[in-house]
Formats: sequence, structure tokens, C-alpha cells
Amino acid sequence: MLFNRLTMMYAFAILQAVLQTDPLFESNQKSILQMTTQNSEEITSEDREYPALVVTKYMGSKKAILSFVASELERLTQPGDIIVDLMAGTHTIGYALKHRCRMVANDIQQYSLVIGNMLLNYVPQPRFEGAASTAFKRFFNVNMRHLEELFATGLRAERQLFSSEPGKQPSWETYSEFCENYPHFMRPEEPEGWHEEYLLLYSTKRVEAYRTLNKLEPYSLFSLYYPCTYLGVRQCAEVDSLRYAIDKLCDEWIPDNEHEEFESFGLRCLLLSSLISVLSRINPGPGHWAAFPRVSEKNPRYLITQRKIPLLDLFLRKVSLFENTLSMQTSPYPPHIVSNDDYVAFMEEVHEYIRKAKVIYLDPPYSQGHYSRFYHLIETLILYDYPEISHMGRYRTDRHQSPFAHKEKVAEAIGRVCEKARAAGTILVISYSRNGIVPDHETFMKILKKYYPKKKIELKRLSSEHSKLGQAQRMKTEEYLFTCMP
Ligand SMILES: C[S@@+](CC[C@H](N)C(=O)[O-])C[C@H]1O[C@@H](n2cnc3c(N)ncnc32)[C@H](O)[C@@H]1O
Repeated sequence: MLFNRLTMMYAFAILQAVLQTDPLFESNQKSILQMTTQNSEEITSEDREYPALVVTKYMGSKKAILSFVASELERLTQPGDIIVDLMAGTHTIGYALKHRCRMVANDIQQYSLVIGNMLLNYVPQPRFEGAASTAFKRFFNVNMRHLEELFATGLRAERQLFSSEPGKQPSWETYSEFCENYPHFMRPEEPEGWHEEYLLLYSTKRVEAYRTLNKLEPYSLFSLYYPCTYLGVRQCAEVDSLRYAIDKLCDEWIPDNEHEEFESFGLRCLLLSSLISVLSRINPGPGHWAAFPRVSEKNPRYLITQRKIPLLDLFLRKVSLFENTLSMQTSPYPPHIVSNDDYVAFMEEVHEYIRKAKVIYLDPPYSQGHYSRFYHLIETLILYDYPEISHMGRYRTDRHQSPFAHKEKVAEAIGRVCEKARAAGTILVISYSRNGIVPDHETFMKILKKYYPKKKIELKRLSSEHSKLGQAQRMKTEEYLFTCMP
């Protein structure tokens, strides 16, 4: 949080200085305001290439319709203009346009802050190699060895089940029983067949000690909370050890060894984003973590293959993939602002920038599913705070409930952004999808018309196919882009 505030303050200061000396800013604003806006409807199939770098699969990511959205934002802006991305998620839009515009991006989820700082601001110089990489692996091994001792019983049992000898795969019933009966923190009933001493590891008192004494070693959150769910037992220990190595490297090794060539917050975001990407790669589910698959007759081979993937190598490959791509996609406007707030508080906080921005881009949730539930695992990976959990999916209990996911609250939630944009004299662009909480574009128009005269609202529509995360069939839908002139 402190890091967040500091980078934001730093970025604000630089942006302020740039704006004060940028003669383009005011004139661009005028030229856009003078544009005649027609209340036209059109189906566009324009297809321009914009850069994309995917950290994790994400519901509602604009990757699939990137040119539809980005070309509209490009049409409305001039180089150097500010775009406020109010609900940036995985920062698809910021990454696509950071070569052209100054981004002021926000999202309520912590993982989004990490991804955004990497995608918008990180320049991989120096590379994560040599002494830094060696120190990182050393830290990883320290935590891993510690966990291998503590969780030896469970790790050994999984290793035996995952024997690579041909024909020695366990029956699905055996693997199912192992998973269903595996201990974890806050398990309602005691699992059978485990030593009392082993079960004590998962006790509430012990986990509370971890929660209170921040950074207690060895890092064990995933080992205590998620074995045999979204990942395997050994993989949990590997995630804990990677998470430990990231903290050790960025909080201790870089400052202690005076490696000033590394910007530790930037490197932390690169490494945490790589770890998010690892979790996304091994996720047996369809692109979110709302539920984990139970072992059945149909899936043990798939689950075991996924859970046998060793994570350190995969992680290091992700880091260099991101470094290679980012080094070719730098921005002339760093640092972009990346924040982590509720959108209402954020609009207050950056009020001045909303006034100076050319466009506010709003891409809200459009279904009932809360992002805080679907992406709870990566939120906890970043916070690493040993939370209280509930439900089969082991969600954190302090999940954010978005008003955009509630039928009775959504109109007011949209209205708050309209009011702000109009008062600031800033163009508002909204992405939405058919069959959302607001069911169609006519209903959405009705909401917008409370704040804008009809002739100031333009609608673009695009037929598209969604992979409905979790369902095999692709779903035909329609994407909307509402452009509201102030
Ligand atoms: C459709 S997604 C955005 C996707 C993004 N444009 C992308 O391409 O990845 C909606 C986002 O709204 C965020 N969100 C929901 N409620 C919010 C709130 N009250 N304040 C800020 N962000 C919120 C969610 O965390 C989610 O990332």
C-alpha cells in the first residue's frame, strides 16, 4: 500500500510537470470538443493490430476485441493525451496505447496494480540474471527445504501417487480420496489417516501466528490453504517459495547489497506478475479460480499432468518472456499512474487529472460474478496475508462487492461516472456487452440519457464470440462502445 501511494505521488508529480509544459494539451482538448458527434449506430469490423501481453486469462479482458476499443480511443485522442482507465483489470488497454497516451489507470484489485505497473512502467534494465537470479534461486531453495521438512508426509504421499513409471498411475478413486482427505486450514472436519502432529500444522492458532507475525518463515500460505485444489501439494510449496524469494530479493538483497541498478518496486511487479502467470498456466479451471475441479473418472490424467509441472523453471521462462517483450514495448510517457482504489474514491483522488484527461474509459464488470471471487487466488498471492476463508472454493472472506454486479445498483454506479465526466468536460467511453446486468444497448442508452442529451451519445456495436469461461461452447454476443461527449 505504501509502495502504491509513493509511486502514485511520484507519477502525479511528473505528470503535473509534463502537463504544465505541454502546449499540445489544451489545443487537443479543443479540437476534440469541436468535433461534431452524431448519434450513429454502426457495426465495425475494423481490425488494426495493437500490442498485447497477457499475464493471466481474465473475464472481460479486452484482448479479444482490442482493436474495436483501442481504435476508438485512438480516434478521440492525440499523442500525449491522458486516458483515465477506471477499471483497468489486466491493463490490456493501457498496454495497447501506452506508446501514444499517458495512462492514469485504476482497479480495486491488488493484482491489477502489480500487473499494471509491470505492463505500463517496467523497463527491464538490468535484466533479471547473474547475481540477482542466483540470489533468487538460493532464497527459493531455503524456503523449499524448510517446507520439505515440515510437509514431508504430504509431499511424499503425493510423490508416490505421481510416480512416473508407466502403468503406475493411481486409480481415479485413489487420487480422489487423497485429494478429498487432504488437510488444510479451516477444514470443517478432521481428515482421516493423518498423524496428529501433521494436522497441527494446519491449526487455527498456528495460522493466526503467521497472520500476526507478518513474514514468518517459512512462507507457507499456499501449503496450508490450497493443496490438491487449484494446484498440487508440491506446487503449493513451490509457490510459497517463489513468493518468499521475491520478498527476500526485493526487500533485503537489493537494498542490503546496494544494487541500485535495480528499481526494487518495478522488479517486484515483474516477478509477481510472472508468478500470477504461472498460476494461470497451471490452473486446471477455465481461466479463473471460482471453483477447482474435483477428481472424477474423467479428469485424473489431466489433473496429474498439470500438477506435475515444476514451477521454478516455468517461472523463470515467464520472467524472460515478459522482459523480452517489454524491452520492445517501451513508452515515451513514463511513469504512467497505476492505482488501486474503489473507482469513486479514485475519481475524487485524481479529480484534477480527470479534468485534464481527454477520455475516461470505463470497462465495468457486466455480469453477476464478482472479480474478487473469480480471482481470489491471485489476490491472496499478492497480499499474502493468511486470510480467513469460506466456501468450497476457499475464497477470502473480505471480498469486494462491486455495484456493477448488482441489478439494483448498476444504474447509479454508471451515473456516478457520467456525472464526474460531464462536470470535468471529459469524453466518456464505456465498454459493455449484451446480456449483462444491463441487458441490452437500449436499456443502457436510457441510463446514459439521464446525464447526456441523445445527440451527444454515439454507439458502436460489434458482433463477437466469447469463450464463456467454464463452458466448452463459445457464445455469440455483441460488444458495445458508448462514446459520450461532454
Ligand atoms: C471487465 S473488467 C476490466 C477488464 C480490463 N479492461 C481488461 O482488459 O483486462 C472489470 C474490472 O472492474 C474492476 N472493478 C469492479 N468494481 C470496481 C470498483 N468498485 N472500483 C474499481 N474497480 C472495480 C474489477 O476488478 C475488474 O478488473
